[in-house]
Amino acid sequence: MNIKDLPRIELCNVKTPIEKLNNLSKEFKNNIYIKRDDLLGIGLGGNKVRKLEYILGDALEKKADIVITSGGVQSNHVRLTVACANKVGIKTVAVLVGSEPSKYKGNTLLDKVLGAEIHFADIKNKEGHSTGDLNRLLDEEGERLVQEIKSKYEKQGKIVYVIPGGGKMPPGIAGYINATSEIYSQLQELRINCDYLVTGVGTSSTIASLIIGEKLYNTGIKPLGILVTNTLGSAKAYAERIKTEIDGYLKFYNWDLNITLDDIKLFDAYTGEGYGIPSEDGLLAIKKLAQSEGLIVDHIYTGKAFAGLLDLSKKEFFKDKNVLFLHTGGSPALFDLDSDLL
Ligand SMILES: Cc1ncc(COP(=O)(O)O)c(C=O)c1O
Repeated sequence: MNIKDLPRIELCNVKTPIEKLNNLSKEFKNNIYIKRDDLLGIGLGGNKVRKLEYILGDALEKKADIVITSGGVQSNHVRLTVACANKVGIKTVAVLVGSEPSKYKGNTLLDKVLGAEIHFADIKNKEGHSTGDLNRLLDEEGERLVQEIKSKYEKQGKIVYVIPGGGKMPPGIAGYINATSEIYSQLQELRINCDYLVTGVGTSSTIASLIIGEKLYNTGIKPLGILVTNTLGSAKAYAERIKTEIDGYLKFYNWDLNITLDDIKLFDAYTGEGYGIPSEDGLLAIKKLAQSEGLIVDHIYTGKAFAGLLDLSKKEFFKDKNVLFLHTGGSPALFDLDSDLL
């Protein structure tokens, strides 16, 4: 299957800019560039828009009346699904995994503004669980609720299309495979040579797509993933899972590419305590980027990912190499952060 033949709706028909972070490049003695996917033109932008072009293309082809999707209480994926589905006239049911906040802020506020039907998937006894276990139990409750709502609407005769958290499904991966070729041609036009592409890893579909894209287009720009979640444990465990997922995508689309565990480079030192919990170096990275370059990242994804890039830079991992940071968006979540932490 050729990506060009997949159903797609155009939600962001502009190339997002690639800019140099001049001040940080000087300070860290590395050429650091940024790909501004936070500017992907709808619902305040972010990486999910690229995935949703294909996912909603598929949903429309299947004549869906309703999409149901899930994510954390501050999920960017949920916010962008509602925004993009609104544009194509499909109703969104949002299952937010975690406790209902007393006040809706950041992404939750935007979910409300965008008009999603919002449900919270919570569990009663949270005491005595590790962060990883708790996240797993909450995810299971989220899954259960998604299925319950799906069957409720199906009984009413609706066509329901379920989008897994993070848009992690076959049509969604096409978005960042395309982005790989966009980045490659843009860098060529700008006459910039980049050796690494750094991105945050949550559900992992973005990095999986970038790894496939790198092989498919032979760009020589190595994707490096900074884990923002630790439910599964070590980077090795995530790499093995991503390898299995990539194999699944390759089989699904009948693509003949040889991708091995060596192609999957992940770092698990920047997650902090766990998904959604602000980390010290993540908070410092947020301030560093804001105060050096005027750009905003968040405490759940992009701040932790950028903390990884800065630390690797300090440790001379990128010595004599150029690095591109993929700004995957997420800044609305920052409006839910306790300002005392900064
Ligand atoms: C802002 C932001 N950055 C990075 C990610 C990670 O992307 P993925 O879930 O594809 O690993 C997400 C979503 O999960 C996100 O919302």
